[in-house]
Amino acid sequence: MPYRLTVLGTGYLGATHAACMAELGFEVLGLDIDAAKIAQLQAGELPIYEPGLEELLKRNLDAGRLRFTTSFEEAAEFGDVHFVCVGTPQKQGEYAADVSYLDAVIDSLAPHLTRECLVVGKSTVPVGTAARLAERLVRLAPAGDQVELVWNPEFLREGFAVDDTLRPDRIVIGVASEQAEKIMREVYEPMLSEGVPLVVTDYPTAELVKSAANAFLATKISFINAMAEVCEAAHADVRQLSAALAYDERIGGRFLNPGLGFGGGCLPKDIRAFMARAGELGADQALSFLREVDAINMRRRARMVDLARELAGGSFHDCVVGVLGAAFKPNSDDIRDSPALDVAVTIRRQGGSVRVYDPVALENARRAHPELDYADSAEGAARDAHVVLLLTEWREFVELDPERLGRVVAARNIVDGRNALDAEIWRATGWHYRALGRP
Ligand code: UDX
Repeated sequence: MPYRLTVLGTGYLGATHAACMAELGFEVLGLDIDAAKIAQLQAGELPIYEPGLEELLKRNLDAGRLRFTTSFEEAAEFGDVHFVCVGTPQKQGEYAADVSYLDAVIDSLAPHLTRECLVVGKSTVPVGTAARLAERLVRLAPAGDQVELVWNPEFLREGFAVDDTLRPDRIVIGVASEQAEKIMREVYEPMLSEGVPLVVTDYPTAELVKSAANAFLATKISFINAMAEVCEAAHADVRQLSAALAYDERIGGRFLNPGLGFGGGCLPKDIRAFMARAGELGADQALSFLREVDAINMRRRARMVDLARELAGGSFHDCVVGVLGAAFKPNSDDIRDSPALDVAVTIRRQGGSVRVYDPVALENARRAHPELDYADSAEGAARDAHVVLLLTEWREFVELDPERLGRVVAARNIVDGRNALDAEIWRATGWHYRALGRP
């Protein structure tokens, strides 16, 4: 008999996981404590922007394989395998991760677990969390040690969440028994049979794979951005440098795009939580380089503001700045720790009049930063601007016609914060073009 699955927490990760597992043919019950979100999902509406996900959600709701609830009792009754997908944000005023949502899910679910089942953690957590939760689960569940924990980190990227979930690069599971491994192999059989590699390990290694992967990606981005700083000092071109490095297969070109750096709900907080946890374990020296990775990343934002001010003539007073992009990256409406909004807010604080446009993150930006001005097109944001900033490399910005945009601005000044535009073409139409890390 195929297992029945629940997904506890229907944010980015959970909503995607629930819809994708239903798509693979499982019966899935999604749970969240946010009743409004559950009503929305049950009606086939996605509270977030994620290409392809809404179709998947609707199709599987219609097929009757996917349902949503707010009742832990119902979830416990229904599920053989419970996936836990709640967030682990950065603690207020600290580097460490806040795992209280995770604890709350275990505390709410466990007392209803009266038969054999698996609880599978997917959230990104400080190493050691799984062992602690495993013990708590067995202690609180009436079924006792018939309830087992598995750790199964998730690596999906926003904007590619469906594809990353259905066709992951690898599946990692931290298990405490062969029985748990067997069940997980059956659950992921549709992917394993397609050749997706499976790494079976213990809890702490599984937890660390996720922290290490994000630390590596953040380091790679900050590495090329550190090179951008050196390039600026040496009058060299970091885009050409990056392209040349990418030909070396040992290095590779992905995550080597110099620019405004990383933001979002994962990389920044995950490297900080990783440092905090290493400190608790007495291994802080091992990760002290991540402090520098973080610092390089934050310096890019400051450098962007400096470049914009330079082009504005030394001060933002009486200056209109048109900002293209609010999301932390293209194909997403997520503005958590968005470098683009950070820059926009800083310029406004320094006296500039800032007008922002983003193809999908506008509503989220408006809600979070009502003090900024907004436009409903790139041209609207650029109208009468003394400086235009490209801060999120949406395709529609990369494809902008410099001549047409040039007709609406007050002065043809642009800073390409993502090294996404063709400098030659923009300069040929009279734009003063500047980019991070290039002459
Ligand atoms: C990341 C990880 O990639 C994913 O595996 C993990 O599960 C969650 O965190 P995500 O936050 O969706 O995913 O975004 P990602 O595509 O990794 O981009 C992160 C940030 O890095 C973005 O702000 C992006 O603009 C920036 N970035 C990325 C660069 O500045 N340069 C690059 O070359 C690549």
